[in-house]
Amino acid sequence: MKVLGISGSLRRDSHNTNLLRSAAETAGDEVEFELWDGLKAVPPYDEDDDTDEAPAAVARLRAAIAGADAVLFATPEYNSSIPGQLKNAIDWVSRPLATNPLRNKPVAVVGASTGMFGAVWSQAELRKVLGATGARVLEGELACTHAPARFDDDGRLIDEELQGRLAELVEELVVAAGERAGAVSPAATRAA
Ligand SMILES: Cc1cc2nc3c(=O)[nH]c(=O)nc-3n(C[C@H](O)[C@H](O)[C@H](O)COP(=O)(O)O)c2cc1C
Repeated sequence: MKVLGISGSLRRDSHNTNLLRSAAETAGDEVEFELWDGLKAVPPYDEDDDTDEAPAAVARLRAAIAGADAVLFATPEYNSSIPGQLKNAIDWVSRPLATNPLRNKPVAVVGASTGMFGAVWSQAELRKVLGATGARVLEGELACTHAPARFDDDGRLIDEELQGRLAELVEELVVAAGERAGAVSPAATRAA
């Protein structure tokens, strides 16, 4: 079972990226967790460039999502919304809409902020955008508030409640991905 982690922050010491690293650590043995690190290389969306031969960074992102059973997004909140670089990447992935790799893919959204709200508006917007791509968006939400207090100096999540909820969310993703795989397996098709 492969879960791809996508952080909306480009910053080296990003709390959101650290949240994904913690998700990888808390995930069960059955989960292969890959942290995608190509966001900065994705060019601004231009429909003229969205041809059969997509820009290399876009092709890599599309392939990474297509190859994952589920995707976990961690997003900061920039001015009450999704960081532009993350929205831009999803715009690329969403085309063509009917066959985009997020379609029916189980996805979940978490978020961290330095303030008291934990990027909840951004998370809600990201869920809306992912829903528009056709992704299967899990309802579970995880708001990491006052992020600097929740991680140690090495960027490890030290808040046990958040660790537990993060593990639960990853488990929900795994279950959703397993159900999807079962629904499209040849055995399931024969049984139907
Ligand atoms: C351009 C910008 C806009 C921001 N806007 C918000 C905001 O609307 N709400 C909020 O809670 N935090 C806001 N913040 C603070 C972020 O929550 C904080 O920088 C957080 O650490 C970013 O996530 P990261 O650690 O993963 O990079 C903003 C930060 C930046 C750089």
